[in-house]
Amino acid sequence: MTVGVGFCLVFLFLKVQFSASTQSNQVVLLDTTSVLGELGWKTYPINGWDAITEMDEQNRPIHTFQVCHVMEPNQNNWLRSNWIFREAAQKVYVELRFTLRDCNSIPWVSGTCKETFNLFYMESDEAHGIKFKSSQYTKIDTIAADESFTQMDLGDRILKLNTEVREVGPITGKGFYLAFQDIGACIALVSVRVYYKKCPFTFRNLATFPDTIPRVDSSSLVEVRGACVKNAEERDTPKLYCGADGDWLVPLGRCVCSVGYEELDGACIACRPGFYKAFAGNIKCAKCPPHSYSYDDGSQLCYCEKGYFRADKDPPSMACTRPPSPPRNVVFNINETSLFLEWSPPSDTGGRKDLTYNVLCKRCGPGLQQCELCGGELRFVPRPQGLTNASVTVLDFTAHANYTFEIESQNGVSELSSFPRPVAAITISTDQGGPSLVGMVQKDWASQNSIALSWKEAEQPSLPVVDYEIKYYEKEHEQLSYSSTRSKMPSVIIAGLKSSTVYVFHIRARTPAGYSSYSPKFEFETGDEASDMAADQGQVLVIVTASVGGFTLLVILTLFFLITGRCQWYIKAKMKSDDKRRAQYQNGHGPFPGIKTYIDPDTYEDPTQAVHEFAKEIDTSRIRIERVIGAGEFGEVCSGRLRTPGKKEIPVAIKTLKGGYVERQRKDFLKEASIMGQFDHPNIIRLEGVVTKSRPVMIVVEYMENGSLDSFLRKHDGHFTVIQLVGILRGIASGMKYLSDMGYVHRDLAARNILVNSNLVCKVSDFGLSRVLEDDPDAAYTTTGGKIPIRWTAPEAIAYRKFSSASDAWSYGIVMWEVMSYGERPYWEMSNQDVILSIEEGYRLPAPMGCPVALHQLMLHCWQKERSHRPKFTDIVSFLDKLIRNPSSLLTLVEDIQGLPESPGDVPDYPMFISISDWLDSIKMGQYKNNFLAAGFTTLDSVTTMSIEDVRQIGVTLIGHQRRIVSSIQTLRLQLLQVQEKGFHV
Ligand code: ADE
Repeated sequence: MTVGVGFCLVFLFLKVQFSASTQSNQVVLLDTTSVLGELGWKTYPINGWDAITEMDEQNRPIHTFQVCHVMEPNQNNWLRSNWIFREAAQKVYVELRFTLRDCNSIPWVSGTCKETFNLFYMESDEAHGIKFKSSQYTKIDTIAADESFTQMDLGDRILKLNTEVREVGPITGKGFYLAFQDIGACIALVSVRVYYKKCPFTFRNLATFPDTIPRVDSSSLVEVRGACVKNAEERDTPKLYCGADGDWLVPLGRCVCSVGYEELDGACIACRPGFYKAFAGNIKCAKCPPHSYSYDDGSQLCYCEKGYFRADKDPPSMACTRPPSPPRNVVFNINETSLFLEWSPPSDTGGRKDLTYNVLCKRCGPGLQQCELCGGELRFVPRPQGLTNASVTVLDFTAHANYTFEIESQNGVSELSSFPRPVAAITISTDQGGPSLVGMVQKDWASQNSIALSWKEAEQPSLPVVDYEIKYYEKEHEQLSYSSTRSKMPSVIIAGLKSSTVYVFHIRARTPAGYSSYSPKFEFETGDEASDMAADQGQVLVIVTASVGGFTLLVILTLFFLITGRCQWYIKAKMKSDDKRRAQYQNGHGPFPGIKTYIDPDTYEDPTQAVHEFAKEIDTSRIRIERVIGAGEFGEVCSGRLRTPGKKEIPVAIKTLKGGYVERQRKDFLKEASIMGQFDHPNIIRLEGVVTKSRPVMIVVEYMENGSLDSFLRKHDGHFTVIQLVGILRGIASGMKYLSDMGYVHRDLAARNILVNSNLVCKVSDFGLSRVLEDDPDAAYTTTGGKIPIRWTAPEAIAYRKFSSASDAWSYGIVMWEVMSYGERPYWEMSNQDVILSIEEGYRLPAPMGCPVALHQLMLHCWQKERSHRPKFTDIVSFLDKLIRNPSSLLTLVEDIQGLPESPGDVPDYPMFISISDWLDSIKMGQYKNNFLAAGFTTLDSVTTMSIEDVRQIGVTLIGHQRRIVSSIQTLRLQLLQVQEKGFHV
């Protein structure tokens, strides 16, 4: 007997409302709710399951299968789906919606009524039609209802719909059947949905990633390489991983917009006319620099306006420039042997700094019809071409000849211009300068040490007088030396003379055409003690008066003040600068009281003196060289032993200067010893002494058994505890604190320049930058010609050589990263150019694997763009000390907090603890830096308190920008919270 009819009628009366929701990462293979015609599923036996099709409100069919033979024992009713094409699926999901009647609610059925049914499948490459053999099917699961319903529920019209999902796979055949086995339950199967999951096509970091089917094994991911969007190119191979649930995970690498294109909303759009972008990267198109233009969309470069040019080496961002105007005001000064030409720079340098001059000589002798180029007999000092100073001396000219000198100014774009070169010309007769333009010279007054003179100007000079040159000497010592001074007026006061001494004066005028002849010689005597009470100092001071009359008194008073009031200055000026340096060093008047100041050996005229001031000379008989352990630019590095009378023999490293060196190399070599010898700290390599009095010249330092830190770490990859690594970092920081307190900037701080001894003590080495950088394989030439270890160097030091203890702190951050990654190369195989670019874009090295958050925070702190925001070495040492005292602070690894919820949308991640400016750049909102600063938000901490209203208030008016900023602030807040929990404060 069956209760089916009553139940079914009631069931059909109750319309089941459901809507199938398909997510974007699901591909549906079958959905019975969307099949419009007959389903055509088979039932075995024919009267087991009933197929009922009803219409919903929208006139769409609801295909329902029901069975309810609860009163009859041994039920075995099968319902089989049609053949389902697998498509690309490897694993499918079967979602069943059904109702199931509670057996207890049906009288007289105990023993026969069931509350479950079974789900089966069978793979096959083709449809079998009606053929059905239950033994060919594999069971997927027994399906039970979470909720069954009773007769009462029916009365209340409450229908309890169950949804169950089962995974089936791996499936390899072209398709499969599903089968439902009823063994005596009262079931209505309302819908069957079969789907598989995929990671859907997506855009990430300017790359597209195709639809990807996850692996069947849910623990392994599918690595997918992205393709750059149009007009973008790979920076680091863009990759995503497709997870088993159809989610994209772990974005790596990225594409950047190509030259001529900039990023906007995930696409690369062409630069507008008037703008350009010369490099690939996430930088914006820039406005064409002055005197250049671009007409087309997507310009890589701007064209120069007519008459303006760009030299080969000019960067695209530089304004176009033009050749300079000619030099001005050429004057000359001639005597029997030399002709000195001098001129003023052109009024228009063309906008460039690489101005030079060429001097061309033409000779126009009396017998010559026209001018000819001068032969090779003339000598120009320093040279006739490529002069950087606005003067040249001409030697070996012929007397009684006319020379015309054409002086041409040129710059880096002169070659590119087709216009004739602008020149200034002057013709000079080597007969001699013209008549003297100086009349009678008279003494206005004389004191014990000074004399005031004045003279008559020429009545009507053919050329204006530029100034006068006054030459004077002691009459008694005419042959020894003379002094000279200049005055623009026909008067002068000459001070600093000896008392009661006769001086000889002669004066000549300078006009644009050169000097006139000298006036006759005039002799005047200085006064004695009685003649001038103020004159009791012995220094030479020359003051040129502005005019003779009333001004003379003012000048005398000024002179009096200077002479009497500046006694101290005079005494100081007399003190030898080397002595001063020595006193400063020995007294410890450095930037920090009580700490010695580093003295640059280059300030010594004689480098040997500096070496002996700071390094002990070692007799070679005390040194025993044992082995060669390395090679430097100057010679081998050896290990050996050093004996000191009354002391234990110690192991040493010996750097040698190989034979055939020039003085410059010897100086550079010994410079390192002069620097090292000034230091005395357990984390700075100790200088034992030098050998300079015999060959080879040597520098002897303490021996560090474990060699350089980078190779030491690589050799012992993963061998140390975090505390040991922090100990290493603490030592280096302590050495660097000592150096910065001494006022010494290292400039090449890197793990390769740290040495490690047998007790794992690290010591900073490699001093004397010029030599060290020549040696350093990681130092590269910059565009300005300097050699710089790019990966370790702060941006301001790369860009404009601003080296400081703050740039050393940046390098220290890189050393931290090297240490925590066991000697990995910073920025891996990225090119130097890419490193510079990515740093500029706000990218910072991520935490090495297993790196505690607190240490990565410290690194990021060291890599702040604004150098004054970086920690001082003293802060670094005390922070590391705190970590060592409280090792639990090192337990949170960066990996642990990386799983935190990400900011919604496509707001890019930014590193923690960067400046506001870096942060805004990283979310491409750099245009609001000034708004934040003007509103008093100067630290990231303060930003985390901002609401959307605050963001609006500071002038961010676009809603999209407000959202982007606020969502990034939320992430920032979360990161800050994490960090504060760890008690990070530097
Ligand atoms: N290589 C260069 N200097 C060294 C030193 N002091 N000890 C060991 N190896 C070195």
